[in-house]
Amino acid sequence: MRIDVLTLFPEMFQSPLGCSILKRARDNGLIDVVLTNIRDFAADNYKRVDDKPYGGGPGMVMMPGPVFDCFEYVEKLGTEKGRVILLTPQGQKFNQAKAAELSKEGRLILIAGRYEGFDERIRIGLGAEQISIGDYVLSGGELAAMVVVDAVVRLLAGVLGDEDSAKDDSFSEGLLEYPQYTRPSSFRNMKVPEILLSGDHGKIAEWRRRQALERTKKCRPDLLG
Ligand code: ADE
Repeated sequence: MRIDVLTLFPEMFQSPLGCSILKRARDNGLIDVVLTNIRDFAADNYKRVDDKPYGGGPGMVMMPGPVFDCFEYVEKLGTEKGRVILLTPQGQKFNQAKAAELSKEGRLILIAGRYEGFDERIRIGLGAEQISIGDYVLSGGELAAMVVVDAVVRLLAGVLGDEDSAKDDSFSEGLLEYPQYTRPSSFRNMKVPEILLSGDHGKIAEWRRRQALERTKKCRPDLLG
């Protein structure tokens, strides 16, 4: 999968992309992440990318010119058109189903905004869909873009060591994940449930399913609809 990110702060992505699963996915050629700085497409000597909102009001708005020029440059770098996504609190709420849907794409083009938001013509002109990672306002779309990249990439074939390890994750079956334990079997007087030590895989699967259900009912009843 090719992932392009248009941002004013490409340096913010270095650490998440340079560690752990995302680093390995890049090293193994499973993903190609290309960061492009929108400011490089500013038209004036001040490298200006934002301006005051028409109609007044606080804050600044991202100008359409640099974003369009940046997008048109980036689009040509890849062979396929890709799915164009603006990260904004006005977007559709991101979830595991959306991550799974995006993981089927060959290319994603993510656009992270700053300031009070994007000039509306950016969304309209680029035909972009909008994604929000939750009902709160971040200082920019970069962290949201990283969340989307991480959640999508771990679903790609070959990215996780054990092919099954995304299957039991919370949300993948519409439920939270069951409780997990590792050694030691007794820790500060807290014991691992006997059933997990029994070696009876049928009983263990049944126990886990019941625990997942109970936990979902208690912590996230909204998931059960
Ligand atoms: N930019 C600012 N806040 C955001 C959010 N909650 N989701 C996506 N992008 C954002």
